[in-house]
This record gives sequence, C-alpha cells and structure tokens, in this order.
Amino acid sequence: MRDGIVRQPVFEKPLLAALRREYGRSIRCNLTDLDDLPPRPSAPCQLYVHVPFCESLCPYCSFHRVQFRQDKAQAYFEAVRQEIRLYAERGYQFTDVYIGGGTPTVLPRELARTLELIRSYWPIRWVSVETNPNHLNRETVGILSDAGIDRLSVGVQSFDDELLRQMGRYQHYGSADQTAERLAAVRGRFSTLNVDMMFNFPTQRLDSVERDIETLRALAVEQVSFYPLMRFTSTERNIRKRLGNAGAERRYAFYQQILRGMRPAYQPSSAWCFSRVAPQEIVRPIDEYITQASDYVGVGSGAFSYLDGTLYATSFSLRRYREALAAGRPSITRCSILTTRQRMRYEFLVGLFGLRLPFEQIKMKYGAEFWWRLAPELATMGLIGALRYDAGAIQLTDRGMYCWMLMMAEFFTAVDRVRDAMRLHIREELSAPSIPSITSQPAEPDPDRFRTGRFSQHAS
Ligand SMILES: C[S@@+](CC[C@H](N)C(=O)[O-])C[C@H]1O[C@@H](n2cnc3c(N)ncnc32)[C@H](O)[C@@H]1O
Ligand code: SF4
Repeated sequence: MRDGIVRQPVFEKPLLAALRREYGRSIRCNLTDLDDLPPRPSAPCQLYVHVPFCESLCPYCSFHRVQFRQDKAQAYFEAVRQEIRLYAERGYQFTDVYIGGGTPTVLPRELARTLELIRSYWPIRWVSVETNPNHLNRETVGILSDAGIDRLSVGVQSFDDELLRQMGRYQHYGSADQTAERLAAVRGRFSTLNVDMMFNFPTQRLDSVERDIETLRALAVEQVSFYPLMRFTSTERNIRKRLGNAGAERRYAFYQQILRGMRPAYQPSSAWCFSRVAPQEIVRPIDEYITQASDYVGVGSGAFSYLDGTLYATSFSLRRYREALAAGRPSITRCSILTTRQRMRYEFLVGLFGLRLPFEQIKMKYGAEFWWRLAPELATMGLIGALRYDAGAIQLTDRGMYCWMLMMAEFFTAVDRVRDAMRLHIREELSAPSIPSITSQPAEPDPDRFRTGRFSQHAS
C-alpha cells in the first residue's frame, strides 16, 4: 500500500487480463434477420419490459435510451401493451416482471396501466421497476405502490454533488441531499428498495466513496448495487469530454474500500450487489444487468430476449417498433444462436456471479463436458485463488469477486457490441418495405429451428 491506495497483487494482472479477453469474446453474435416471436418456452419465464425514455441522457450510459417526449412515450406504452397482447395470444406464460430502461417511471400512469394488463393475463409473483430520484415524489410513489410494485431500484450513482454535476444528473435528477431525503421518505413503501451506485469515475476520490458508503448505511436501504464505470465504444467520447480520462489504476482500491465499508451491515449477494439482510433471506436481488431467471422474454424497443440458447433483439428504431405493432406484428428483427461453449461460459459467469454454483446444477445441465470444456479458466482462477470447492458447489472467494466483477464488465462490453450492431441496423430497418398488417393469427413457429440452451441477461 502506497499513497493510502490498495494495489492489486502483481501476479494477478496478466492472468486476469487473459480471462477478461476470453470472456469479452464469449458472446460474439452473428445476428440474422427474423420477423416473428421466438418459439414458446416449455416452462413459464420472466418478462422484461424496456422503456427507453429519459429526461436527460447521462454521458456514460450505453443502454438503449432516448430523450423523453410525452407524446412519443404515450404512443410507445400503447405499442408495448400491444406486444404484450401478442405474447398472451401465443400462450406464453410469465411469472415475474422486470421493468427497466431508460426510465420506466416517466409516465407512471401508463406504467400502471401496462402492469394491470400484464396481471390480467398472468399471476405475477414479483414486479421490479427502475427509476430516478426525481420521481420519488408523493404522486408517483403512490401510483407505483398502488400498482403493486414489490421492488424499486433507484439510480443514485453518487452522493457527491460535484460528480453529479459532471454527469449532468444534479441538474435533472437532484442534489445528493435531496436524493437522500427522498430515499428516506420512501423507505418501507416497497418490499425491497435498491440503490444503484457507481465507482471509478475519473475524478472520483476514495474519500467521496467513503462518504457514499456512510450515507447508504445511515439510510439503511435493503440493497445497494455498486457498479464499476463500464466504458464502451459508444460512450468513450462522452465520458472523456464530460467526466475525464482516467483508467483502471484505482478500481481495485475502490472495490476493496466498498467491500470493507459495506460489511458487516451489508453482505454481498453478488460481486456488485450488497444486501442488508442475509443474502439467503432475499427472494431475488434486483440487478440491472443480471436476471436470475435463465430464460426471459424482452418486450419494448431495444429489448433482448434469451430463450433456449438463442438471443433475440427487438428493433432499436422506435418508429419501426410502433409501426410493426400497429400492424399486429412482433418487432423482433434479429436473433443469434449461441454455441455450446458460449452458453456454458455465459452460465458459468452468471451462475457464479451469485457467488455459488452448485455441482448438481452443473451436472444436470452439462455433465462432465462442463469440466473439460472450461478447464483452462477453472485452472487460471484456481491459480489466482478466486475459487473454492466447498459444500457441494464452486464458490467465489473475496479475491474471486473482484475478478468476477471485471469479467462481467468485459462480458457487457461484448453485449454492447450487439447493441451497436442493432443501432447500425436501424437504417436498414427503416428503408425496408412497409410492414404488412396481419389479419389472421400467425402460424406457430417451428421449434426445431432453434437449438436448446440457456442465457440470462436483459441489458438493453
Ligand atoms: C440503465 S439505468 C436505468 C435506470 C435509471 N434510468 C437510472 O439512471 O438509474 C440503471 C443503472 O445502470 C447503471 N449504469 C448505466 N450505465 C453504466 C455504465 N456505463 N457503467 C456502469 N453502470 C452503469 C447505473 O448505475 C444506473 O443506475
Ligand atoms: S443512466 Fe439512467 S437516466 Fe441516465 S441515460 Fe442511462 S437510463 Fe437514462
């Protein structure tokens, strides 16, 4: 330790770099055109709804998001409801709903109407919704609570006003003090209140993160997610211009500080998510990046679905999305079938991200093939001291948690390349012949067109 900064052990760096490089390649998608719903899964799964509107666009964010306009958002929610009806007509079954964005609460009444429609079709157990601090007002919270939302996730990022100003969030989403007051006021209104935080901004300091942790502990929210700033090709210029240009030197020190500061009041439930109660008491943590459900269907422009080893992407063009739904057609435009190795790696990454991957689960899905196919990474992680084989499961050590967080970040860089490909595809979609409407029910798709397997993220 020099300058009060904890440094990563030197020997870890090259091994970690090799692992990250591999996992950054693990989802190289060959997207092909598709113009139908995916084959219906055999078991009920999770429904993800994407609402891409935001009142202000943050410079670091590469999710599919657009500037909020009341009329556009209104028409968008109508199209989303139309898409939900299509899935209901085709006999899909959903158990849980995650509504992410963008900012799903830009039109809370529209959101509530959409949830009402979903509940009219399926007996939903859990509803999670993302929001921003400026929406934690009496009226919106009342609507969300009446709509039966169980878990609310609020994007705070930092309690440092200077940093919030640099992000442009202070001006639109409120100061640190306002946000803390609003969070205190909604405590107890939802079964889980999650706060999203970020670290490793170029101008962020260790003492600023220290104060963030103190504030969070005083607020005693049920869950806190601490994401490392992920830099993508699509955001790199904006990050440099608005937030500065610093690398990864302090990331390890930030992470160690977060682990030290959050414990013992909070316990990790994944490598970047901390829960106030024991993780096993949490039915399912909220995570913007990972869903616990293996298979899920995404509705809304820019949503991904993952079903039986195939990734599906819905049009990133809002116009094309609305037009397709108005014509009674789904708006999934592309899909990609993952190879067995890609699926194994993905499941390994996501499974162990929850800190523990039972041997039984591995055996059921992949048998012995899993061990020899993933032997290089298992050996490398063993060398770093990232894994422990204990109590019938592969377990992540504290050292492994840092390693995992970086690999996840690398994986999401790969996902972002899929988003880039979809954004590039918008022009082609718009120049395609106009969408014919359908009067009769489309034929059930042939399930043999797709290979089987699993995947589970809904970053849109
Ligand atoms: C996509 S936003 C949607 C919800 C809401 N609009 C908000 O700002 O919180 C969800 C969370 O993703 C995280 N996020 C967005 N871009 C990120 C990036 N480049 N690196 C790390 N985390 C990011 C932020 O913590 C953010 O709160
Ligand atoms: S971080 Fe949230 S508010 Fe900011 S642009 Fe992304 S989705 Fe919108």
